[in-house]
Amino acid sequence: MKLTTALSLLAFGVSLLLLLPSCETPTTEEVVEEVTPTYELQIDSLLQAMTLEEKTALIHASSSFTSGGIERLGIPELTMSDGPHGVRHEHGRDWEKDENVADSSTYLPVGVTLAATWNRDLGYQFGEVLGQEANYRGKDIILGPGFNLIRSPLNGRNFEYLSEDPYLNAEMAVGYIKGVQDQGIAACAKHYIANTLEFEREKVNVEMSERVLRELYLPPFKASVQEGKVKTIMAAYNKFRDTYCAHSAYLLDTILRKEYGFEGLVVSDWMAVKDTKKAATVGLDIEMGTDLTMFGLEGGLDYDKFYLADTLITLVKAGEIDESYIDAKVRNILRLMFEIHKFDTRPAGSYNTAKHQSLARKVADEGIVLLKNEGVLPLAQDGMNKLAVVGANATRKHAGGGGSSQVKAYYETTPLEGLSNMLSEGVAIEYAPGYVVDRETKSDPTMIAEAVDLVANADAAVYFGGWIHGFSDAWDDNAYDAESVDKSDMYLPFGQDELIKALLAANPNTIIVLFGGGPTDMRAWQADAKGIIQAWYPGMEGGNALAAILFGEVNPSGKLPMSFPVKLEDSPAHALSELPTPDNMLIDHKEGVFVGYRYFDTYEVAPAFAFGHGLSYTTFEYSDLAVAKTKEGITVSLSLKNTGEQDGAEVVQVYVKDEEAALRRPEKELKEFQRVALKAGESAEVTFDLPTTALQYYDEQKGGWVLEPGAFTIMVGSSAADIRVQKSVDW
Ligand code: GLC
Repeated sequence: MKLTTALSLLAFGVSLLLLLPSCETPTTEEVVEEVTPTYELQIDSLLQAMTLEEKTALIHASSSFTSGGIERLGIPELTMSDGPHGVRHEHGRDWEKDENVADSSTYLPVGVTLAATWNRDLGYQFGEVLGQEANYRGKDIILGPGFNLIRSPLNGRNFEYLSEDPYLNAEMAVGYIKGVQDQGIAACAKHYIANTLEFEREKVNVEMSERVLRELYLPPFKASVQEGKVKTIMAAYNKFRDTYCAHSAYLLDTILRKEYGFEGLVVSDWMAVKDTKKAATVGLDIEMGTDLTMFGLEGGLDYDKFYLADTLITLVKAGEIDESYIDAKVRNILRLMFEIHKFDTRPAGSYNTAKHQSLARKVADEGIVLLKNEGVLPLAQDGMNKLAVVGANATRKHAGGGGSSQVKAYYETTPLEGLSNMLSEGVAIEYAPGYVVDRETKSDPTMIAEAVDLVANADAAVYFGGWIHGFSDAWDDNAYDAESVDKSDMYLPFGQDELIKALLAANPNTIIVLFGGGPTDMRAWQADAKGIIQAWYPGMEGGNALAAILFGEVNPSGKLPMSFPVKLEDSPAHALSELPTPDNMLIDHKEGVFVGYRYFDTYEVAPAFAFGHGLSYTTFEYSDLAVAKTKEGITVSLSLKNTGEQDGAEVVQVYVKDEEAALRRPEKELKEFQRVALKAGESAEVTFDLPTTALQYYDEQKGGWVLEPGAFTIMVGSSAADIRVQKSVDW
């Protein structure tokens, strides 16, 4: 039933005006300014008509991916779907995959690949594709972008997230959110907050100082709310300062709603609500969840047994919880429904289009990172008769793994297929897996010998290895880069180190391509490898993108969105803090603000590859840096020239150092960046306007942001470890 019918039933002749968004009708001579419609009058009407039971139905799950509706009033359920890099397969109302339904979709590159493009426009286009496909599939909320600062290399879900740096994280999330929401549906910034490990994620308690919270973990969420206007946020599983995120008045009310002005919906992660009264009396609007027995609770899929269901009704009727708390939740839900045109028509979505697939390809082209190249890349087809391809990831598909972000890909081009698509008939491609993807295996001498023989007798050789999401797309064998599990170390599994060493011994020009969501301990062979590429999980077009980069059809331009430590012990989350254990569920952020490059550069620990690092087949020259103080902040300008023979793109990064601070600040902090495409020999002027907020730090004693007078150094470069030009300015 349409809302109009419901309203006219309810309101008995309420004037038509009430059906319009409540804003004055401007007269012709008045300047008609863009007025954001508000729906408060309609919301009031509906709320007044609801019973307590009906209100409660709206604020908890009604199936695996819906929250309740009210048929009598023409209020439909809200429908949600994972995930951050593609619309997940259909579950229907249960948790089993629906069979024989048209639910394959565009499998975009995973979050870290998008972040590695440092391309804000691509962030928007990524979200646009996701929004069009989610809309087409009848979803009201797509449960992405996923981001939590990448703090430990072991976190199983780093692949789904964006960066170790709050500014890069924020910039890529904002574009993504706008792209999704311009399609008329809601994005969901998750997981709020500091869900930075998967180990016992429902039990761990995260402790961090207010300065760490404000300077590092909140900024991507603040930007999502205030710049991205994100319509929903997902409360994380973990505790924060000893309170579950889904119960935290500080996180959900004080910060999110009062300080940041968030007027959207907070949904819980699935089964993240643990107490009726605590969740009812804070700004948690919808309790989402799954089969209660999966969590050792009574009730199975009886959604009335959820915390914000029958129990809540009983407590309200007993006068223990004021009904106004429920009304507030219902308001947020109805407001979202109006805003996403749940009661009228949305733009038509689209699905598995060539446009979507070419965007997936563009993100892979721009997000794959060339880590090392000592004269071996790009490969040349001319004169090549035989190409040796080794490694199980040359033929493996990754879309269906990793947990809730799994995608039933419309297709997924593997590296071997990509190479076959691109290379001419004249080039014979010979393949050997080299290792077995199996929990128990270590290296296999016979497989190594076969692979070694191949690379030793070929004109060129490429190895595709690295990590995987799990051994199949079933949940019970999630491994390495996956939800609900963390890596146990940074060493490649399946005996790959031994294999890679043998390949390099047989052919030192073998190119090493690694799949994965983060860093790898490469000490066993890194010095011997002349060419190393970080492929991440590059989506359905990844095989074609890798082939194009390997043979120079695409000039790589990706930049690391996280530092790659030499070894795990170098990572600040491990050097300055410790992992939770079964006996100690505390994640204490002892490293403070020194996460990622903020640590490596301040403590002078050299990473294997620095934050912001990524090579090109051309070279870039930075010159004529000018830095000037203005009332609003600091203007930065410089000249950038492509001094090589090939067109390319450079990500110009601007870091700031506070030379005189009352407390210890990082050696540098990213405060701006710009991706600049230049033809061979072309120059461009690149300018930035740094606001004063870029110079501030959070002072816990003052309980606010501080901009101290004194000298600041503005550093501009190609990575955190490759500063090309710098100048100081006094503030
Ligand atoms: C999962 C994930 C969350 C996902 C949700 C629904 O546990 O933590 O990211 O969106 O449940 O699948």
